[in-house]
Amino acid sequence: MYKPDDVTEAHIRPLITHVQLQERMTELAREISHDYRGQSIVAVCILKGSFIFFSDMIRKLDLPMHCEFLGVSSYGNKMVSSGEVKLTLDVSDTLEGRHVVVFEDIVDSGLTLSYILQALRARRPATLKSCSLLLKPDSLKTEVDVDYLGFKIGNEFVVGYGIDYAGRFRGLPYIGFIEHGH
Ligand code: IMP
Ligand code: MG
Repeated sequence: MYKPDDVTEAHIRPLITHVQLQERMTELAREISHDYRGQSIVAVCILKGSFIFFSDMIRKLDLPMHCEFLGVSSYGNKMVSSGEVKLTLDVSDTLEGRHVVVFEDIVDSGLTLSYILQALRARRPATLKSCSLLLKPDSLKTEVDVDYLGFKIGNEFVVGYGIDYAGRFRGLPYIGFIEHGH
């Protein structure tokens, strides 16, 4: 068995290219901009994994917005969901009465996103929706609403484009998976 530090970019097989990511995000941003036309939103970035997805999406959205950042940590350095979610950073502004859209990198068991949505719903936003770049439908352990979805993927462990393995590979410009055995 390899240790996380032994995994290199050579062990990563590309799954979704940079161009595919950009094209899909353009479509998603168009959909969101259309749905919220005439309104302003609070765009919430779920740290750390969503920071690149978030920064690309807000530049594609044609809407007035405020940006907020919510830090959660759910995995430690393992490849399986612990189901435990720890809040590491809270949003800095009130969400009450506002149109909130949460941006998440990946929904696996669904536990993290449902925890986040429940926590934010308690702040009484006017509306609350979620946008996830990736979803692993076969891994879901709870019902969770993903209102805007980039791609459905299989159960493979993915990295890149903000998503990490033991803190690494966030800077890859594409999404790839770590080949079996690593
Ligand atoms: P969930 O609570 O099981 O849905 O997990 C959600 C969080 O786990 C995501 O926000 C990621 O941080 C992490 N995660 C889930 N699947 C992967 C993966 O394939 N690669 C890296 N991180 C993942
Ligand atoms: Mg995450």
